[in-house]
Amino acid sequence: MGSPLARVRRPWLWIASVAVLAAALVVWLLAVPGESEEDAAYLDPSLPVADRVADLLGRMTIEEKVGQMTQAEVPAVQDSPGDVGDFGLGSLLSGGSEAFYDTPEAWAAMIDGYQREALDTRLGIPIIYGIDAVHGNAAVPGATIFPHNIGLGAAGDEELAGRTAAITAAETRAAGIPWTFAPCLCVARDSRWGRTYESFSEDPELVTAMADDVVHGYQGEDLSANTSVLATAKHYVGDGGTAYGSSTTDSYTLDQGVTELSEDELRRLHLAPFRAAVEAGVGSVMASFSSTDLGEGPLKVHADGYLLTTVLKGELGFEGFVVSDWAGVSQISDDYAEAVREAINAGIDMVMVPDQYEAFTATLLAEVDAGRVSENRIDDAVARILTQKFALGLFEHPFADTSLAAEVGSEEHRAVAREAAAASQVLLRNEGDLLPLSGDESVYVAGSGADSLGRQLGGWSGTWQGSVNAVDEGTTILDGIGEVAPDATVQYSQRASEPLDGYDVGIVVVAENPYAEGVGDVGPGNDHDMKLSDQDAEAVETVCGAMDCVVITVSGRPMELEGHLDGVDALVAAWLPGSEGEGVADPLFGLAPYTGTLPVSWPRTVDDEPVNVGDADYDPLFAYGFGLETAP
Ligand code: BGC
Ligand code: BGC
Repeated sequence: MGSPLARVRRPWLWIASVAVLAAALVVWLLAVPGESEEDAAYLDPSLPVADRVADLLGRMTIEEKVGQMTQAEVPAVQDSPGDVGDFGLGSLLSGGSEAFYDTPEAWAAMIDGYQREALDTRLGIPIIYGIDAVHGNAAVPGATIFPHNIGLGAAGDEELAGRTAAITAAETRAAGIPWTFAPCLCVARDSRWGRTYESFSEDPELVTAMADDVVHGYQGEDLSANTSVLATAKHYVGDGGTAYGSSTTDSYTLDQGVTELSEDELRRLHLAPFRAAVEAGVGSVMASFSSTDLGEGPLKVHADGYLLTTVLKGELGFEGFVVSDWAGVSQISDDYAEAVREAINAGIDMVMVPDQYEAFTATLLAEVDAGRVSENRIDDAVARILTQKFALGLFEHPFADTSLAAEVGSEEHRAVAREAAAASQVLLRNEGDLLPLSGDESVYVAGSGADSLGRQLGGWSGTWQGSVNAVDEGTTILDGIGEVAPDATVQYSQRASEPLDGYDVGIVVVAENPYAEGVGDVGPGNDHDMKLSDQDAEAVETVCGAMDCVVITVSGRPMELEGHLDGVDALVAAWLPGSEGEGVADPLFGLAPYTGTLPVSWPRTVDDEPVNVGDADYDPLFAYGFGLETAP
């Protein structure tokens, strides 16, 4: 039994020991986390990336991990300041090459603002910002804009394509953006598809040949350099092989539809370019909106564990991360929890939500909590994302390096775009060797594509769909003719409404109006039909009826020319040549030779599509690979 004295003294002891414990706790709370994060292995650039990833992953809560897997679009987070930090978002994008800001510096300042929010979080994991710099970083109005991929395929010069990618990378990173959603390694098998121009060719061999140089062009020798961006091979896999009429999106006919091919055919036609991209070290792959049907009915690639995990990550050995396409996860099922679960379990690592990020993170957390998505799968996804962030040097240099901003749209860069445009011209007819012109002729220029920067840029140029009224800066074909042939007398009349007497030669530039994705699919309910507009058809008839004439097509794909070619002496496919109209004028006047060849078969009529080299009843107007040459 204790003495009365001892009983009196006991509360004292209690208070003393509680105070000591509390003090110790305070010291631990203040000191330990601070100390451990500052000296944390993941912040040590001298350690191998794998060690840094493992260390960081070990410190992350499940909420932080799910945040890393979330990509939101900037208009969505703009309305909710603080959300980038509060949700710990791993990535932001601006879709559609939209020119939200005018200069590289303004883009960089916007992105740095969000980066600051990300760095202020507990672990300070930087965001990775992505954009569709698919033919130059056309979201910056003064940027250099290259021919769309179909033109690069016509040029058939991998080294040149690689240089266009390297310049795009430098101009993109100079705006604070370290990630492009390019290249499209789509193999367009039906020119009625609105994304045909994003494809290098209908021939998987040519697409595969481009993949290596282009991926290296974007990513450079060292991803952390201020001239490199992370590349995205897209859209994995079969996006260009969908069957006409199989799409269930809006009024689309092909885009986002079903690729009805056997696995052998899918591999032969559409997989090979991705194998090349993986071998080139591509850091990310975007899943295709489309479905495949390997015997058990259509399955969205976004939910296809066989294609994403077994084939891409297993067989091909892809070590980067898979990003979903724009709200593509929502297309898997009307039941959002099921859609999220299936996508992540199939192998999607980052989800381009793009705006309902609160619902996405809550849903994925609930799925993990319920054990329907394993923590291992989450750790794998996050490790893949963090690996690329470390490789990009984002932990060391999270903020934009705009020191190369002055080179955006520089003369040197534009010279390469001009070279690429010239190399992409395909001469399809040249009666009496009309071309090249000598440069001292009197020339009558007509057609909707002659003086239209917007039409020669096409989609993904300052706006998602592109615009007849261009947002970006450049030289039209008419301006180019003036510069390349200063001694020529040039009369321009879009509709050929000026008198026609006394000219040596007419140049009629017919064109498609710009479009992107399924909006450009040919089909009922869409505005595009691959045919000449009535005005362009009339201009051809009028000018070519009155003088020797050249017809140039400015389009994302072949156009139906049946019935329009009678009086035409020379015919040139210019594709979507980009910001440098001089590149189209160069071979016209002999400053460069015509060397391009058709990267896609040119059908006689639109209804003949799909027309592809190797078809049993192959009977195009101009065959795949055709192209006349002129002397260098
Ligand atoms: C397209 C992708 C693009 C993404 C972001 C999607 O609609 O299919 O190619 O990268 O949007 O703009
Ligand atoms: C497209 C995106 C695009 C966005 C632009 C979406 O429907 O799929 O690629 O960036 O619209 O608003």
